[in-house]
Amino acid sequence: MSIQVHKKTPIFLINGEKSSYVFGWDAKFQALRHIYWDKRVSNVKDFEFLPLKELSANESEWDIMMEDYAPWGGRRYKTPCIKATFADGTRDIVFEFLKYEIRDNILTVYLKDRHYNFFITLYYQIIEKLDILSRWVEIENKESNDIIIENLYSAAFHVPEIGMDSTQVKGYWAGEQQLFTERLFPGRKIFESRKGTTSHNHSPYFILSKNATEYEGEVYFGVLAYSGNFKVSIDVSQYDITSVTLGINDFDFTYRLKPGEKFTAPKAYAGYSTEGFSDMSNRMNQFALEYILPKENSGKLRKILYNSWEATEFNISVDQQIKLAKIAAEIGIELFVVDDGWFGGRNSDSAGLGDWYPNKEKFPNSLSELIKKVNDLGMDFGIWVEPEMVSPDSNLYRLHPDWIYNFPNRDPTTARNQLVLNLTRDEVQEYLISALDKLLEENNIAFLKWDMNRPISEPGALNLDRIDQKSLWYRHTQAVFNIVGALRRNHPNVVFEGCSSGGGRVDYGALEHFDQFWTSDNTDALDRLYIQEGYSVMYPIKAMCAWVTDVPNCHTKKTTPLDFRFHCAMMGVLGLGINLLKCSEEELEMIKEKIKEYKEIRHVVQEGKLYRISSLRKSEIHVVQYVLDERESVFFAFLKGQKYISLPYQYTVKMKGLDPAVEYTITGKDSKYKKNGDYLMNVGINIYMIGDYQSQILKIQAK
Ligand code: DGJ
Repeated sequence: MSIQVHKKTPIFLINGEKSSYVFGWDAKFQALRHIYWDKRVSNVKDFEFLPLKELSANESEWDIMMEDYAPWGGRRYKTPCIKATFADGTRDIVFEFLKYEIRDNILTVYLKDRHYNFFITLYYQIIEKLDILSRWVEIENKESNDIIIENLYSAAFHVPEIGMDSTQVKGYWAGEQQLFTERLFPGRKIFESRKGTTSHNHSPYFILSKNATEYEGEVYFGVLAYSGNFKVSIDVSQYDITSVTLGINDFDFTYRLKPGEKFTAPKAYAGYSTEGFSDMSNRMNQFALEYILPKENSGKLRKILYNSWEATEFNISVDQQIKLAKIAAEIGIELFVVDDGWFGGRNSDSAGLGDWYPNKEKFPNSLSELIKKVNDLGMDFGIWVEPEMVSPDSNLYRLHPDWIYNFPNRDPTTARNQLVLNLTRDEVQEYLISALDKLLEENNIAFLKWDMNRPISEPGALNLDRIDQKSLWYRHTQAVFNIVGALRRNHPNVVFEGCSSGGGRVDYGALEHFDQFWTSDNTDALDRLYIQEGYSVMYPIKAMCAWVTDVPNCHTKKTTPLDFRFHCAMMGVLGLGINLLKCSEEELEMIKEKIKEYKEIRHVVQEGKLYRISSLRKSEIHVVQYVLDERESVFFAFLKGQKYISLPYQYTVKMKGLDPAVEYTITGKDSKYKKNGDYLMNVGINIYMIGDYQSQILKIQAK
């Protein structure tokens, strides 16, 4: 049984295949005490609450204990999960345990405030085979007055240890997902966003480990399924406990819960592994494929797209796009995407956002002329939009200058010459749904790229009461998903790509609504190896788009060989951003070959397990291996730059994830040989690379 209960207390034991999570209601302290999160234990009856004694008046039992979900109230000075103010001014919550229910691998714990009709319901769901625990919280106001929620985290997790390492990513536009690990010392460490989106800066997750490697050691991890302002707080207490709380950021946040109203906080997904970081990544990858990605497309392999953004930017015309489409079809592209610049008065980034109809000069016969041509050439058609924004120079803004976020007596600040639409207004949401619906209805569009190119500023919404202003951040995020949800319902076959100036909205909340992400605006293949490595730690490869673009790279000015660029982009969902009109016949032939090769391996890349065998962060070579069902594998190796002539340019690399008893055929560009799985994993193979920006792919196939 995956969920057991020791009824007297009650203590709950939630079991995955390899791990256990234990907590219960301690009547003595009237608290939901956390007991255990570690290797699997079979019997709930073996667990009990350890006695707790106050050390002094300064160290309360509630601060010393681990609470699975702590209210702010009484003698608690730690990071609480929930904080509220009642109508009479009381700012203290006291939990009362009502009952629990276990149904379909979901444990529901019903709590209430002891005095006020304020109900807090906690949900715990276990996916046994993946050892992933989902947690979410619902609150309900059955008082006759408003309750002001000042903080509502989704979950708290505890490890009764100190000296742990935290792994996160840091980054910025065009430099996302840069992995780093740091030792945690007593005190509080916060990763957050205050920008209205997930942001390029950090990711809404935590990873705690001690001496763990890619393949060994204990790793505790958890993600928040939310795309707005988030907060991950890691507290190393004076009592030698490491605790994590994660949820909606409480910075500039309040939510007025009206009488009769319910509010559900975003979900958190967590896991524990004894098999290092790769086991964590592969379980989350599988979890995303099976449970998170939108069902309409999760079972389908992602198509190879062409996007002309880097090649042409705003300077597009129907003739030029048709010329590109003809070549794209010849080289094997499956989806042709027109990016920014097709609509309204959009000739640069200074106009047009909000006017979601074709620019008459660029598309005199509307979009249908191009779409028909693209479809006749055998490709799907896709298009770019940035619905949350408006350009001051647009018909939409001229008609509705009051549809933006702003404060009274303040000028709204533009960024990239654009303002953010106030999505908390129903009429704004309605306008966007109808405009985009019309676009999808009237045109045979199979793919929509949803972009968001600046954070929210001056977060004021004149349509909301003063008391509701700080709920704006949350409402905005919900509105984005409402709109995407409405479009998906009407157009279930359309593939949605999430983008926010590259990878500014990559998270498990967005993953429920978007089929894939534009990972970064940085398409420099070498930089991309680092970005993709950071991404792969927590997010599924099937959602990681990667384009091959022109050199010198438009952002970094670096020149890398076509092979290197392709091999890097083939590690995710391959796309092309090269200016095909400038390619020689020979280059097009090479590109065609590579696309053909990707089609042969993409099922392994997009749906297989991933092993980060060697990283440029720590070594001279970068090696990543993908394995599907222990039968098929693809092995990518990169050498950044040659160092000293005397160094042997031969690298011995041990493979991962194969069946030791099976014989495999290894096929490289100029080689083909057979080896047993145990040899490949224990002795390894030798790869030879010399020079700068070298790369190679090996295909490994069970006989
Ligand atoms: C930012 C995106 O990340 C790019 O791919 C491109 O779509 C531009 N916006 C267009 O403005």
